[in-house]
Amino acid sequence: MTNKSSRGDSRERRETVRLPLWAGAAIVVLSAGVVVLLGLLAVSIMERRWEAQRPAIVVRPLAQWEPNNARWGENYPREYETYLKTRIGDTRTRYGGAVLRDYLDEDPYKVILYAGYGFSKDYRQARGHYHAVKDIIETKRIKRPFNAGTCWTCKSTDVPRLMNKMGVREFYAANWHDLKQEVVNSIGCQDCHDPQTMNLRITRPALKEAFAAMGADTSEAGHQQMRSLVCAQCHVEYYFAGDESKGLKNYLVFPWEKGTGVEDMIAYYDGLDFADYVHPVSGTRIIKAQHPDYEMYLTGIHAYRGVSCADCHMPYRTEGGLKFTDHHVQSPLLNISGSCAVCHRWSEQEIRDRAGSIQTKVRAAVLAAEEALVLAHFDTAAAVQAGAGAEELAEARRLLRHGQFRWDYVSSNNGMGFHSPQESMRILGQSVNQAQQARILVARILAAKGVSASPRYPELATRAQAWEVAQSFVEGAGIGLLP
Ligand code: HEC
Ligand code: HEC
Ligand code: HEC
Ligand code: HEC
Repeated sequence: MTNKSSRGDSRERRETVRLPLWAGAAIVVLSAGVVVLLGLLAVSIMERRWEAQRPAIVVRPLAQWEPNNARWGENYPREYETYLKTRIGDTRTRYGGAVLRDYLDEDPYKVILYAGYGFSKDYRQARGHYHAVKDIIETKRIKRPFNAGTCWTCKSTDVPRLMNKMGVREFYAANWHDLKQEVVNSIGCQDCHDPQTMNLRITRPALKEAFAAMGADTSEAGHQQMRSLVCAQCHVEYYFAGDESKGLKNYLVFPWEKGTGVEDMIAYYDGLDFADYVHPVSGTRIIKAQHPDYEMYLTGIHAYRGVSCADCHMPYRTEGGLKFTDHHVQSPLLNISGSCAVCHRWSEQEIRDRAGSIQTKVRAAVLAAEEALVLAHFDTAAAVQAGAGAEELAEARRLLRHGQFRWDYVSSNNGMGFHSPQESMRILGQSVNQAQQARILVARILAAKGVSASPRYPELATRAQAWEVAQSFVEGAGIGLLP
């Protein structure tokens, strides 16, 4: 009871405290003063931040088609400095990073699958945006004396300027070698930003046209969607369309008219009977998949949950109390704490292992598909050597065409399946199935011609061995495959 009574005492004492009237007024005035001061301070801090981020006086006003990244950098030094880090070229993760990994040394089957096409000669991993112009000049895939101007489209900030000056059709139709003097600035600010407002913007007509073909409109895209669409200007599947009657030559098209899924694109290409090359071993009309990163991403859990390319590849960064976008576009596995760990409360090691284990499984399925496809090419060649004609082989070749496009769709995708693990495995499963179906058909054709033993497959352990076999088919009859 003593406790209770002592509490009662203190209550009585509080009630008896009385302040003089002037003190009340003083407190009101004082606190009002403090509130105003705090408000002023807050406004000043915010203004400073804003100024630091977007200078009130733009150091150098930018021309509408300014291609020079350093000019933009004078106004936006943080973004420019982090952008310059895309120059770094020695980072390596299990399957990615910015090193020029040589895919053909690593995997001789690719030399067979791309036989007779530029990718069997030179195929290395992509690296940072800073190097895009240099890397395309150095690749052995560029042809002489003519190569399509279109090949510059995803490499340089000079492209929007030239398209504006020359006209889009004329730019694509030009000779790549003739534009070399004009295209010097690598992928950068102009590709993704409006120089006056700094808003994200689409500068490549092919993306706008592909949306229009689907009955959509890029100008209606929301802010979060734009954080992926700026990438979808280049990280997509595409082909060069030609139509003399419309004056179109090497016109860049994303094949999305029937949709952005792999089956939609196959149906689209089949409708045009389009082929990038005829496979010298099997005589199959091949569609070369490019790098359908955006389309694959669309089928994954992150896209479903509204996570954009920029959320992982260009996360926010804080320096000296300032928050800005990290323009060092790279593998997020080299910046897990700034990227994945913002949303996933797992340890860095767990996140790395989780991504790595997804990729290792996809990689195993990619190799399984390659083996089935390579055997199917040689089986078909054996049938030709046994006297099978085009009509007899049409169905096997159709299966091989579709199976190879599916394999390539995943294999050429960046990220080794991480962007959409289940879709990658589904597509590869179908690829293996189609390659094996082709082999069964061909085995029946061979059996009908009295060949029941398996063809004599060549040794393909090294890149050099694979190259020699591929060349023998490119240049002539190839190697004898019949038992
Ligand atoms: C949820 C996070 C996430 C999103 C969203 C995402 N990526 Fe990735 N991306 C990754 C991871 C993880 C890798 C694998 C990196 C590695 O293996 O080192 C990767 C790899 C890549 C690579 C190859 C980089 C390398 O070093 O091998 C490219 C290019 C790429 N992504 C582009 C895109 C594009 C374009 C989009 C949007 C259409 C996108 N990514 C969306 C996480 C993401
Ligand atoms: C104008 C075309 C273009 C745009 C826009 C573009 N990229 Fe790229 N990207 C490329 C090309 C080309 C390469 C390969 C450069 C090379 O290897 O020289 C590349 C390489 C990359 C790499 C590999 C770098 C590394 O270190 O492994 C990543 C990751 C990447 N891009 C992500 C993105 C993301 C994310 C976006 C959107 C925010 C984007 N890109 C926008 C054309 C583009
Ligand atoms: C591949 C596309 C891409 C390229 C290239 C690019 N940016 Fe950005 N930039 C973005 C994205 C995405 C954002 C985030 C915008 C948002 O969410 O509103 C951004 C944001 C910005 C912002 C707003 C402030 C901030 O940091 O978030 C500035 C300023 C900026 N970039 C400047 C530059 C400059 C300067 C360059 C050239 C050195 C450049 N950007 C190159 C995609 C790009
Ligand atoms: C902006 C937030 C965000 C970022 C950044 C992000 N994720 Fe996610 N991630 C999600 C969401 C949301 C899901 C879906 C969770 C769900 O629906 O249960 C998810 C799911 C996943 C899953 C489970 C996929 C499955 O099907 O089981 C993995 C693995 C994953 N993320 C890895 C990563 C990695 C690795 C990175 C960095 C490269 C990353 N995430 C970056 C938000 C994010």
